[in-house]
Amino acid sequence: MQIRWLGHSAFEIMSSEDLKILTDPFISNNPVCPVTVEEVDADVICVTHGHTDHFGDTMEIANRTGAVIVANHEHSVYLAKQGLEAIGMNIGGSVKIHNITITMLNSNHSSDMDFIDEIGAGGSSCGYILTLENGRKIYHSGDTGLFGDMKTVVRDIYKPQIALLPIGDRYTMGPFEASIAAEWINPEIVIPMHYNTFPVIKQDPEDFARRVESLKKETKVVILEPGQIYEE
Ligand code: NI
Ligand code: MN
Repeated sequence: MQIRWLGHSAFEIMSSEDLKILTDPFISNNPVCPVTVEEVDADVICVTHGHTDHFGDTMEIANRTGAVIVANHEHSVYLAKQGLEAIGMNIGGSVKIHNITITMLNSNHSSDMDFIDEIGAGGSSCGYILTLENGRKIYHSGDTGLFGDMKTVVRDIYKPQIALLPIGDRYTMGPFEASIAAEWINPEIVIPMHYNTFPVIKQDPEDFARRVESLKKETKVVILEPGQIYEE
């Protein structure tokens, strides 16, 4: 299994059965993304919310590759109007695609589709648990503040081994809050995201790593550069 960071909250996850899952594909306007939209391939695209730095190039990539889009109900309605089919779902539900189970969880954020005129569309923001064929679970929190579900629903019920958490601050948790999130979630691996894309979310991931280390020795922080892969 490989997890390749494309910068911000965009990851390309290659499962052990070669299924390519793309999360929050913010590619073309992402100043740190190492690939072009044309180079991206996907079987499944998971969108956490309607902000342009997450919804990103979802439609272009789905159009070209035929990838299945997984998003909240409101996004699926919008996508249907654009002629694209999405698997719409909502908080607490799961869908199975090939041998991967995708569970939508709460996140503490907003979700307006800020690229269309009528602000108000977009439903709720969310996070996902991706349960891969080998049983490994990846938690992509989406944009979020620290919230109590992380130590109840996420940790006690889903028990992800890998957590992808934002550390950029301002719009999401910063390193301090994200280190507490890591302590609560108790994963084996945590990969920081949503930082150093723009000056306003500039952060030192080593600071985050030190904080996690001091709270939770069993959790390993894997810091990736955009384009780099974590493999297991
Ligand atoms: Ni956002
Ligand atoms: Mn964001």
